[in-house]
Amino acid sequence: MEHWGNLDINSDGHLMLGGCDALDLAAQFGTPLYVMEEDVIRDICRRYMRAMKEYKGGGRVLFAGKAMMTTAMCKLVQSEGLGLDVVSGGELYVAMNAGFDLGNVFFHGNNKTDADLKMAVKAGVGRIVIDSMAEIVRLANIAAEAGRVQEVSVRIKPGIEAHTHEYIQTGQVDSKFGFGIDDGHGLRAIKAILGQPSLKLIGIHCHIGSQIFELQPFRDAVDVMLDYMLAVKEETGYMMSEIDFGGGYGIHYTKDDDPLRPHQYVQTMMDELTKRCEAKGIDCPAFVIEPGRSIAGEAGTTLYTVGDIKAIPDVRTYVSVDGSMADNPRPALYQAVYTCALAGKMDQPDEMTVSIAGRACESGDMLVWDAKLPKAEAGDVLAVFSTGAYNYSMASNYNKLRHPAVVLVKDGKAELMVKRQTYDDLIRNDVVPSWL
Ligand code: LLP
Repeated sequence: MEHWGNLDINSDGHLMLGGCDALDLAAQFGTPLYVMEEDVIRDICRRYMRAMKEYKGGGRVLFAGKAMMTTAMCKLVQSEGLGLDVVSGGELYVAMNAGFDLGNVFFHGNNKTDADLKMAVKAGVGRIVIDSMAEIVRLANIAAEAGRVQEVSVRIKPGIEAHTHEYIQTGQVDSKFGFGIDDGHGLRAIKAILGQPSLKLIGIHCHIGSQIFELQPFRDAVDVMLDYMLAVKEETGYMMSEIDFGGGYGIHYTKDDDPLRPHQYVQTMMDELTKRCEAKGIDCPAFVIEPGRSIAGEAGTTLYTVGDIKAIPDVRTYVSVDGSMADNPRPALYQAVYTCALAGKMDQPDEMTVSIAGRACESGDMLVWDAKLPKAEAGDVLAVFSTGAYNYSMASNYNKLRHPAVVLVKDGKAELMVKRQTYDDLIRNDVVPSWL
């Protein structure tokens, strides 16, 4: 196993997470188990907030809740001064349950329902990020009925194609999200918003994709968005005061991944924006970012228990674990590659190449291909790294597998953030039609 960072390993050769022995965590809370390291999350939040403080135009860091949305996670990021990006009534509900400052919540989505919009307006969210012409009218009516002026921004497609999996590319022209620039749709939307007294236009938003390593697409986004803001001023006389650049900063899943530290992307973007604004002699607009993966991803490790092992001569060895695509759909969905280790054998040399199979009834349910590990045996605890983002939040109950518990660890303490689902949870919403 080759990891990119400095793993904490105790004198017994066990993996330590947040000062807790991974084997103890597995024994105490059961497996599969999502483990989140609080210090890792706080450290990244602080780096983002520090970078933001130095920017002249001010701004906000919003945690993209879709990466890892739980009540405790909301409280944690809020305690570091972050706001939140939500995309549904459900995510907003979790934020409300956490007592989140709703003025620091931005509501996104390409097809917000009327119920979503009513809930968001009533809750008093800071921004609703408009994504379609129809939404402008729907939202304007809802805000007017509620007697409110809702602050909004507009999602723009900057026409930037970042190198990442096509399912998580979003800034290109052929995307379901947002309004185009060259086709004039953005301008049409902005004019329509400016004509609605119940809406107040604050800024523009873009999100070019996720798990991006290169700096250039982010720099390009700065240039395109700033130019667009000025073009809108030229055309309408209205100067917006905020640009929201979404998220997308890449993280390590394997040692071959080579991201910058997340705040370095943001620093570069802010420098570019400051430079461009100074050259044009204008005030710097407020700068908003919405990182998700880079805050939660590397903080998370999933622990599994090894079960049956099947060695197929001259083909491969399948090591099955008690989790599956139900707790980590990313390999099946995006061919995502993960790094894993035997948490109780961290001091032993690798001696076999194995593939880690999930327990779901589907051949595509593989968690890691061709992992190099010490000798794996039934009962070993397998740790899969960088599973803090888009794993719990995308978990399903396929095969009626239960969602694992999520535990938060810090300084040798471990407490639940989310309880493991019970069998009763699996039938809680089942009802039997009267004729059966
Ligand atoms: N803001 C907006 C408007 C977004 O759509 C997203 C992610 C983010 C921020 C956060 O992006 P991040 O910093 O996490 O890259 N399920 C996929 C990822 C989908 C990302 C969707 N939007 C995965 O597991 O890779």
